[in-house]
Amino acid sequence: MFEIKAKDGKARVGVLKTNHGDVKTPNLMPVIHPRKQTIDVGKYGADIVITNAYLIYKNEDLKEKALENGLHDLINFDGPVMTDSGSFQLSVYGDIEITNKEVIEFQEAIGTDIGTSLDIPTAPYVTREQAEGDMEITLERAREAISYVKDNDYDMMINSVVQGSTFLDLREKCAEELSKLDADLYPIGAVVPLMEQYQYKDVVDVVMHSMKHLPDDTARHLMGAGHPMVFALAVAMGCDLFDSAAYILYAEDDRFLTTRGTIKLENLNEMPCSCEVCCKYTPDDLRAMDKEERVNLIAQHNLHVSFAELRLIRQAIYEGSLMELVEERCRAHPLLLDALRCLGDYSDDIEVYEPRSKKSAFFYTGPESLKRAEVTRHLNKMRARKTKKNLVVLAGNRKPYSKFINKDYKKFYLYSLDEDNLTEEELSKFEDGIPEGFDLNIKDENTDYLVFDIPFCLIPLELDEVYPLSQNEAPKINDEIAVEFARDFLVEYAEKYDNVLIHPRIVDLCELDYIDLYVDPERIKVRKNDLEKIKSIADYQFGDGAGEALFTGKIEIEKSKKTGKIRHIFDKKQNIVNMRASDSLLILSKLGAKRLYSCSEGMKNKVMISNSVESFARDGKSVFSKFIVDCDENMRSNDEVLIVNEEDELLAFGKALIGAKEMNDFSVGQAIKTRKGFKK
Ligand code: GUN
Ligand code: ZN
Repeated sequence: MFEIKAKDGKARVGVLKTNHGDVKTPNLMPVIHPRKQTIDVGKYGADIVITNAYLIYKNEDLKEKALENGLHDLINFDGPVMTDSGSFQLSVYGDIEITNKEVIEFQEAIGTDIGTSLDIPTAPYVTREQAEGDMEITLERAREAISYVKDNDYDMMINSVVQGSTFLDLREKCAEELSKLDADLYPIGAVVPLMEQYQYKDVVDVVMHSMKHLPDDTARHLMGAGHPMVFALAVAMGCDLFDSAAYILYAEDDRFLTTRGTIKLENLNEMPCSCEVCCKYTPDDLRAMDKEERVNLIAQHNLHVSFAELRLIRQAIYEGSLMELVEERCRAHPLLLDALRCLGDYSDDIEVYEPRSKKSAFFYTGPESLKRAEVTRHLNKMRARKTKKNLVVLAGNRKPYSKFINKDYKKFYLYSLDEDNLTEEELSKFEDGIPEGFDLNIKDENTDYLVFDIPFCLIPLELDEVYPLSQNEAPKINDEIAVEFARDFLVEYAEKYDNVLIHPRIVDLCELDYIDLYVDPERIKVRKNDLEKIKSIADYQFGDGAGEALFTGKIEIEKSKKTGKIRHIFDKKQNIVNMRASDSLLILSKLGAKRLYSCSEGMKNKVMISNSVESFARDGKSVFSKFIVDCDENMRSNDEVLIVNEEDELLAFGKALIGAKEMNDFSVGQAIKTRKGFKK
C-alpha cells in the first residue's frame, strides 16, 4: 500500500506500508550483503533495506537459517526488507540456477516484505530483437509471479520491473502491460550501466517513458541508482525509492559520496561534510587507519550524505521547491545538466502533475527554468486565450507590474510582422506618429495590455498577481537564451492582433523589426478596472466566459484596508467569491459555485462522483478518490472544483487535492476537500 502525502510536479512524499512498518518516501534502501555485512545501517538512518534472495538461496548455510528463523533475523534488521531476485546475477553471469516460481516461493518462505520476480535486465543499446524478446520474458514472469502470489494467498508485496533497454517504445509498452497487473511496486530496471557511464540523459528518457504508463498510486523504485547526486533529478521524474550498494562499494574503494560527486580519500584535504565521521576525523586520520575501520567510517559518511539528501528532497517537495533543488544539483556535472535539459522535453508530462499554486515562489536559475511546467502551462493558457483587437506590450518593471508601470517612455513603436503590409502612401501618413483617425483605437475595451518579462514572457496586466506570474524571481541581467525564448513567444502571440504597440525597451532588447513610427504614450492610458481584472482572473482560472457568468448583478468589490488588494466580491450583499491573498486566485462561495456551474459545459471545472455518496457531498464531507466517476481533464491539484452527481446535478464544491490524472488512477485517499455542500 502506498499513500501520497505531498506533491511537487511528478515528485511525491509518500508512505509505503509494509508488514514491518511504514516507510516515508522518497527513501533509500541500503543493500545488505547477507554474508559480509558489517555495518549496522539501521543505526545510520535506514528505514528499509534490500538484500538478495538468490545469494541466500545459493548458500546452504544462509538458506537454512533464513528458512528457519526468517530473513529479518538473518540480516538482523527488524524494519521492512525488500529482496531482489537474482536478476542482477543473471545479467552479470548470464545464467542462474533458479526458476521464477522458485524464487517467488523462496522469498515468501523466508518472510520478505517485498519480493521481486525474475526479470531480465537488458543492457543498453542492444538489438531491438533482443530487447523485445527479453521484455516479453520479463512480462511473462511478472504475470506468473503475481498470479502465483494471489493464488497462494501470499502475504508478500511484489515488485514488477520495467525493462525494455534503451528502446523507449518498449519501455512504454512494458510499463503499460505491467500496470494491468496490480503489482505493489514498479521498479525501473537496467539503468545501472547507463549510470556507470554517466549517460544521465538516457536515464531521463528511459525513466520518463516508463513513467508514462505507471499508475500514480504505486511506488516506483529506480533500481541500482545509489549516488546522492542523482536523487533529486530521479525524484522529480516520479521515483520514490532507491537502493544503494554504492555506500559500501565506494567506501571499499576509499571514495566519499557527496551531492556534487565523488571524492577519493587520497585527494581529500578537508572532510567533505559535517556528519559524525567528518567532524571527528581528519583525512590524515583516515589514511593512517587500517582498511576495515576506514571502510566502515567512510560507509557511515556515505549513508549519512545519502539520507541527508533525501531529507532535503522531501522538505523541498513539501515546500514546492524541488525543481530549484534539481536545477542546483544538475549543475554538479555537465552530463547531469544534459539530463536536466532533456527533462525539459517532458514539460507537458510534468505539467499534468504540477499543482496550480504553491507556497513557494518560482525561481529562475538559468535557461533550463524556461522548460519548467509552470512556464509551459502559462504559455499554453496564453495561446488559448481570447484576444482583443490591439495589443500593447509594456516593459516589466517591479512586481506587481500594474503598480509600477513604467512611465518613462516617450513613444511606443508600432510593431509589424510584415512591413510590406503597408503601402508607401500609408506609411507616409505615419511620419508624425500614428495619425488621428487611423484605425488604432487604443481604448481599454479593445486593447490587451501585456507585460513582457522573463520567464513568463507575456503577462496580462490584470493577472499580474496570480500565481506564479507575480510569485517568481529572475535575475535582472537577462541571458540571451531567455530573451530569445520570450521574443519568439511574443512574435508568435502578436500574430493574433491587428495592431501591436511595443515599448521601446522591448523592441531594443528583442531586436524586433518594427515600423519606425510611434504612438504618443498619452494615447496608451492603462486604466485600472477592478471588474475587468476579476473577470480576467476568472477566465484564466476557470476558462473563457467564467468572468461574465460569475460577476453579474450589482457587483461590489471589497479590498483589504491594509494592502489595498481585492479580498471579497459580492452581488448586492451576497458573497460570490473571495480572492486568496497568497496567489490571487478566486475561492468560490455558494453563489459563485452556482454561477460557475451555470456556465460550465460538459465536465469543465467538475468532478462527477458516484450517486452512492451524494448525501455525503451534500453534507460537506470530503470526497475520496474511489468514488470519482469522471472529472475535467484539465483539473490540477489546488483547483476550485464543482462536485456533481451522475446526473450532473451540483452537489457541492471544494478544492482538488490531486490532479485529473491521479483522480483516475487512485483508489484510496482524499481527492477533494469539500468546502460546502448544497443540502436537498
Ligand atoms: N538491480 C539493478 N538493476 C536491476 C534490474 O534491472 N533488475 C533487478 N531485478 N535488479 C536490479
Ligand atoms: Zn561526512
